[in-house]
Amino acid sequence: MRRSPAAVSLGESEERRGLYRELFRQQSDRTWNADRDVDWSLGPNIPAEKREPWLKLVNVFYGLEYMGLDTIQVMMSKATHQLRDPNLNLYLAAQCQDEARHAYVLDKYLEAAGGKGMLSGLESGLIDKFGTMASFGFFRVENWLTSTLFSENFAALFLQMSRNLPDMDPLAADIFRLILRDEVRHVNFLHTVLPILIGNLSRVGRIYLWQSQLLIISAVSVGMRRAKPHAIAIGLDIDEFKDTLTDNLDAQFRDAGISEFLQASSYRRVMDRFI
Ligand SMILES: [Fe+2]
Ligand SMILES: [Fe+2]
Repeated sequence: MRRSPAAVSLGESEERRGLYRELFRQQSDRTWNADRDVDWSLGPNIPAEKREPWLKLVNVFYGLEYMGLDTIQVMMSKATHQLRDPNLNLYLAAQCQDEARHAYVLDKYLEAAGGKGMLSGLESGLIDKFGTMASFGFFRVENWLTSTLFSENFAALFLQMSRNLPDMDPLAADIFRLILRDEVRHVNFLHTVLPILIGNLSRVGRIYLWQSQLLIISAVSVGMRRAKPHAIAIGLDIDEFKDTLTDNLDAQFRDAGISEFLQASSYRRVMDRFI
């Protein structure tokens, strides 16, 4: 996933304010309705042998969206106060609404498929841990938004690769298409805000943030190891997933001008240790 031209320019604070407002406007123009814009009459259509692993993975994805929704509500006013920009609140409120829609539409899909509540206590605990690690401690705004760049990329790649599976459920493919439309905008926002936040950090802050990110990636990788058999069972290629994720992160860190500080190759080494 690449950022769009709307996220390219970084200049005066006036300009930045304009970008947050532009992203807010884009959200208003492109908001979809989870009840009306999805053809629910299709009903879930999952091959019998893939039903269980597929629904488990969708449960994981739903858990991550719900955690993302919970975390943005805790963090949005903190981020706005730290950057002293009321326009940031406009944009984050819009993103919060996106995440609520994602959680709602996935919950509705799982209900239609009879697949709700398939996560173990350990899996739910790992997702909670990820949310907690991403939004507490020192430099919590930087930590939250930096880990969000990883999680948005991770989610977008899962959506893209699942949609390309030959026997993908058409109803889920339609839902994933709509969610992806929002996730691209979320990444654009991160490209705008991260260079500013990281640019303001002291050397100690950067070291702290980097270590914290590696810990978060380790926690995510432990979770990924548990989901790996389900991903293989539905036909996802794990090596292709890791290669593409690393390439995408690498391009994005460079594109956002933060590659001196964040290295996709380090993320990859942590992932390879666990998966
Ligand atoms: Fe989302
Ligand atoms: Fe998102």
